[in-house]
Amino acid sequence: MDPADLNMERIVTVFGGTGFLGRRIVKRLLERGFTVRAASRHPARVGPVFSSIARMPEAVEADILNASSIGSAIAGSEAIVNAVSLYVEQGVQTFERVHVKAAADLAAASRDGKVDQFVQISGIGSDPQSDSNYIRARGRGEIAVQSAFPGAFIVRPAVMTGPDDAFLTTIVRLICLLPVYPLFGDGGTRLQPVYVEDVAEAVSRLIDGRSHKGSPAFEFGGPRIYTYKELLREIARQLETDIRLMPMPFAAWNALAGVAELLPAAPITRNQVDLMRHDNVAAIDAPGLKELDIEPWDINEVIRLIEQRRDAGSRTSPA
Ligand SMILES: NC(=O)c1ccc[n+]([C@@H]2O[C@H](COP(=O)([O-])OP(=O)(O)OC[C@H]3O[C@@H](n4cnc5c(N)ncnc54)[C@H](OP(=O)(O)O)[C@@H]3O)[C@@H](O)[C@H]2O)c1
Repeated sequence: MDPADLNMERIVTVFGGTGFLGRRIVKRLLERGFTVRAASRHPARVGPVFSSIARMPEAVEADILNASSIGSAIAGSEAIVNAVSLYVEQGVQTFERVHVKAAADLAAASRDGKVDQFVQISGIGSDPQSDSNYIRARGRGEIAVQSAFPGAFIVRPAVMTGPDDAFLTTIVRLICLLPVYPLFGDGGTRLQPVYVEDVAEAVSRLIDGRSHKGSPAFEFGGPRIYTYKELLREIARQLETDIRLMPMPFAAWNALAGVAELLPAAPITRNQVDLMRHDNVAAIDAPGLKELDIEPWDINEVIRLIEQRRDAGSRTSPA
């Protein structure tokens, strides 16, 4: 019997299953034969998001802020993934509410529902003592999830890239547009961008039982570490364009991001600025992609995908 057929009876529910990372986790799990539920507040998006794949996930409406709406999504699941994001606080949607309380409630409901595995998607640099509301909530959320669901996997990706990302795609577009490119501070922050598909594959391997014994926390970074300045130069080299860099103080970025957050789709947020203040690289002693036998993609391969997508878009867009 094909091992994938054995997984058909195994239900995995991915909260945030229509998002940038969540949709890829759903796809990888479907490829492994799991029965998958994609849970989000807008289940109508499931059809268009997964229209190009052979098997569809089940679309489930659930808001992790509303305890009564998560029960049916969890029922009968063997594993739960929490890939819900919140990048800008708005009304009742605070970092504390979503990344700490709701994550812990979801983990507790999963434990009570006899779920075997819980995967909390967090981020490298999460720190319960941080001065930043966002980074502190991510760190507190990890602790709250582990206490509600002992043995929960904590997955901390570095900044993720992909043809539809918000990070690399924006840099590629702006490098071609701006005469001078502003740096975060002096551009010395170290980053380890990771391809979103590699992270999704890693999560699907964790759920499929390829865990690294005794290590519930994983840090997923790409194959190379760059300072922000080096990264911009590497991208410009790949795009065969010149780049002039200009240091810009973090205080100025913070003010800019505060205004940007008033826009419907903020191009930069204060939590992103906070994240750029500190190195964002995987800890040497944390298990990562290597322990799950994943050879990470190089950033230049992702840049090529972004260019192909841009070229395909310009060919199909009306003259
Ligand atoms: N993107 C990165 O580079 C990066 C790096 C490190 C870590 N992370 C972490 O990875 C996780 C996923 O990030 P992402 O960039 O993939 O997020 P995303 O693209 O913004 O997707 C978020 C998903 O969560 C759903 N969602 C939002 N609020 C919800 C709620 N209250 N209840 C149920 N579903 C909700 C959204 O669908 P609806 O709006 O329809 O509900 C969507 O499916 C987050 O924890 C993020 O912090 C991301």
